[in-house]
Amino acid sequence: MYVLGIDTSCDDTSVAILDSESGSVLAEHVSSQVELHSIYGGVVPEIAARKHLEYIIPMIEKALDSAGIAPDPGVIDLVAATRGPGLIGGLLIGFSAAKALSLGWEIPFVGVNHINGHLVSAELDHGGLPYPHIALVISGGHSELYKAESPIKYSLIGQTRDDAVGELLDKVGRLLDLPFPSGPIIDKWAVNLPQLSPRPEFPRPLLSDEVLEFSFSGLKTACLYFLRSDEAKKFSRESIGSEVLYAAVDCLLGKSFEACKKFGLNYLVISGGVAASEYLRKTASQLGAREGLDIVFPSRKHCTDNGSMIALAGHYKFTGFGADPYDLDCDASLDVN
Ligand code: KG4
Ligand code: ZN
Repeated sequence: MYVLGIDTSCDDTSVAILDSESGSVLAEHVSSQVELHSIYGGVVPEIAARKHLEYIIPMIEKALDSAGIAPDPGVIDLVAATRGPGLIGGLLIGFSAAKALSLGWEIPFVGVNHINGHLVSAELDHGGLPYPHIALVISGGHSELYKAESPIKYSLIGQTRDDAVGELLDKVGRLLDLPFPSGPIIDKWAVNLPQLSPRPEFPRPLLSDEVLEFSFSGLKTACLYFLRSDEAKKFSRESIGSEVLYAAVDCLLGKSFEACKKFGLNYLVISGGVAASEYLRKTASQLGAREGLDIVFPSRKHCTDNGSMIALAGHYKFTGFGADPYDLDCDASLDVN
């Protein structure tokens, strides 16, 4: 079955075509708006929506063209688009385009939860994932732990009490005068900072508590007050930013390992934009081996938002529950399941 997947939940217009039988991605394209939003220090929803409107049809044409597929009825079997969570203006553009294609080509349409997309994304690179497993989803808007029962059944077992970890990195980046998004820059610093170079010590919120929860806003506040103190002058920007990521990664991995122990599972899947972090990937593979855990990440391009993960999650949703009706609305704060 050929599935066309669309994601317009944030600032990337992503379109992909997946052959769900073989699992191969026939085309995937992302039109990033990052430079447009960078000057504002974050994504401006109206600008994002207007750009999605401009890009969506050219991106669909580009995907069909690069997959060698004519834009005719009878070739694509299913169209899937992100229904939420995300920015409503952008979601409506991708969702409407998908409904129009479905109607024109007389094929079924499904609305997909963006987080479900991240949750299955590692399969695009590693083939079928074993179930049940523990899944950690970390992005600009999410820091959540799930027990994954199947590609369409997840139980939320832990989440952040406040900010998401990507939000933490982007906010700390602003404090350190970095462009948006700052996660990738802080990540480079964290990987390259010499081990013995002096750095401040920030807290690891909730790490020693028994709860399966995160709290990242306190870490941002600790960094803010530290930067206002005289102490800060003794440290480089690189060491301060790196310490924030070191602290966040200690919390993310600590709680994920605790979840694996609690549920007796030794397979951990880490996905979402922040899972692209090289520092996180290296640390997870070192510590995971020590804990006897199998830890899997999607390739970097499938960590950040992409249409392939929406096509794959759409395939699973369609197989499990059938097509969605045309009166289905988008939901900016949609929950998983
Ligand atoms: O999943 P995603 O592309 O969009 C959302 O659904 O939010 O995640 C974006 C987030 C941003 O906060 C960005 O700073 C962070 O992922 N990010 C990274 C890296 N690449 C993207 N954080 C750390 N290291 C990276 N290499
Ligand atoms: Zn995302």
